[in-house]
Formats: sequence, structure tokens, C-alpha cells
Amino acid sequence: MLRRLHQDQPDSFAFTPANQAWAEAQITKYPPGRQASAVIALLWRAQEQEGWLTRPAIEYVADMLDMARIRVLEVASFYFMFQLQPVGSVANIQICGTTSCMICGAEDLIGVCREKIAPNPHELSADGKLSWEEVECLGACANAPMAQIGKDYYEDLTAERFAEIIDELTAGKVPVPGPQNGRYASEPAGGLTALKEFESGRTRYNASVQRATDIGDTIQRIDGTEVPLIAPWREKGANHAPGTPKPAAEKPAEKPAPAPKPAAKPAAKPAKAKQAATAEGPGTPPKTLEAARDGKPDDLKQIKGVGPKLEKLLHSMGFFHFDQIAAWTEAEVAWADQNLVGFKGRVSRDEWVKQAKTLAEGGTTEFSKRVKKGDVY
Ligand code: FES
Repeated sequence: MLRRLHQDQPDSFAFTPANQAWAEAQITKYPPGRQASAVIALLWRAQEQEGWLTRPAIEYVADMLDMARIRVLEVASFYFMFQLQPVGSVANIQICGTTSCMICGAEDLIGVCREKIAPNPHELSADGKLSWEEVECLGACANAPMAQIGKDYYEDLTAERFAEIIDELTAGKVPVPGPQNGRYASEPAGGLTALKEFESGRTRYNASVQRATDIGDTIQRIDGTEVPLIAPWREKGANHAPGTPKPAAEKPAEKPAPAPKPAAKPAAKPAKAKQAATAEGPGTPPKTLEAARDGKPDDLKQIKGVGPKLEKLLHSMGFFHFDQIAAWTEAEVAWADQNLVGFKGRVSRDEWVKQAKTLAEGGTTEFSKRVKKGDVY
């Protein structure tokens, strides 16, 4: 299969503070000069953060590891666990198409994908929630046919049950992984023929499924908030990279976002219907404008982290001025972090509100000076 960079790329990439701390800690696993050994770990983290591996992410990792960018691209394009194009926001479904699964009905599962998700692999469903691809043997041949969804395996599938699973995922549910035909694990279809004495004391699900349901992160992506132990091999108290914030999981729980406030001015309206319809997650949508005041938007690209594409997206959502962003509350930042599709987490990561306050008051930042000088493209 030809694997190449997607034609539409974001302007930039950076790890969130928590992921940056995690990535820097990973590098300390290896002796000086061998930091390239961390390349797969860092690429994977970048993919977990963004959903797929963008060119800026590949370049960012290369720069972090002092590697030639082409070498990191070689790694990213070699392993097909790395997604080089956008994937479904809920899940990218991987259908095993190798011998056992093919004999037992993988083609039927692929038919379901074509019908219910998208006609071709690596295409997004109409609602953007799902994508699919065929992959090589995933090592669950005794439970063929099977699919990997997120972190877990769904086994002993039929086309009918698989179609139901897709419907459940689309509806926001996470079906229990593991065998879908009543088998406990990979015992004979007619039940155990040996070791029957262990049957009565076993857990509800087999060990893999039990663990998956206990953790409950089947389709949840790693976001850096779940890793209080970043580098357990380092001395106690140095468990996050020097000079970087501690991971969010070590911070006290944040207050719940306040209820949405009514619009103060008639001119203000909720975020555009398209965005509001897809709005997910925590926070409160900020106030928006129909258009820039006097038809003159501020140059939002003076905010570090905002490139031309992101500025266009912000305009389409009703944000044109520094003072709009400067006024965002914590809950509104949380909403924007979640709903800037393709740029999640960018607002808090680059401290937009702080930057926007300075710019709204007529001040400059180091970054805005560079933009004005034409040093930033
Ligand atoms: S052939 Fe499908 S898991 Fe091995």
C-alpha cells in the first residue's frame, strides 16, 4: 500500500505541556546520542494527541530527537499503526483481512464498513466519527474474524453483530470487546473439553476483556492526563521533565465549567450551527460575532499557535478580534480547546488568552514582533 503524507496539513504541531513532559522523560531512557530510540514512542504520542500523524508532528518529533526529518518520515510511513490521514473522531476500525479471518468472513465485515462508514478505506464517515482500514493478522486468529477498535479486539464477529457494534459506537456507546458469539475466550465453540474445574471460579469476562472493561478506555485516546508516573526510572521528585509543568493528572481537579451565560448583546450569537452541532466535551461556547467590526478583523496570526488555516477556522466560528479571545473564561477556553477541529488543545497550550490580552491592549509579544517583521510564514 502506498503510504504518503496527506494533502491537507495543519500549519504547526506542538505537544501539550503534559505530553511534552512525558516525551522529554521518554528520551531520558536512552544514553546520550541514542535519543532516536524514542522515535516510535514520541510519534505514537503525537498520534494519540492529534488522532493522526501530521507532517508538522513528524517534523516536530524529528527536531526533538535531533534526527533528519526524512528518517522520522520513513518510520511513520513504514508502520501502518501510524495514520497518515485524518481518522474518525470516535474510532478508526481495523479489520483483519489475513487468512483465518478472510476464510471466516472478513470480506463480509469489510462490506459492512463500505456500507456503513465509507466506500473506501481511510475515508471518513459522513459524520466524521468513524473510518476503517484492512490490516494484516492481529494475532487473534482463533477468534476469526475480528477487528481492532481503539485499544481492544472484537472477535468472533458476524456481519450482523459488527453492524450493531458500528451503530452503538456511532450512538456514543462502547460495546464490550472480546468474543461476540458467546464464547468466553478461544475455547471450542461447543464449550470446554478440558480444565473444566476452573470454569466456576472465573471472572465475568476473560482476562483481556475484563481488563478492558475495568479500565474502560477502549476508544479513549491518551491525552497526557492519565500519566502521573512519567519516568519511574528517575529519582523520586523528578518525575516530570525539568522546566516543564507537571502533568495535568497531578494537579487538583478543576472546578466544573459554569453554566452558559446568556448573550449580552443582540449582535452576539452562539457559535455557528455547523460548529455547535459538532460541539463536544467540556466548557462553554464563547460569544461570537457575525462579522468583524467595521469589516476589519485583527491579525489573529500574531497569536503564537495561529496560522492562516486556524485563523480562517476562527473567522468561520465568529472570532475576529484579540479582545474576543482575551475575554475567554476558563470554561470558554476548555470549549475552544475541544472544538477547534484539528487543533485541539491549542488555546491553552499556547496561552492564547494571555497573548490576546497583550495584543488587545496595543502591546506586542515576542511572537507578534516576528510576525510583523515577516519572520513567520
Ligand atoms: S488472521 Fe485475523 S487475527 Fe490472525
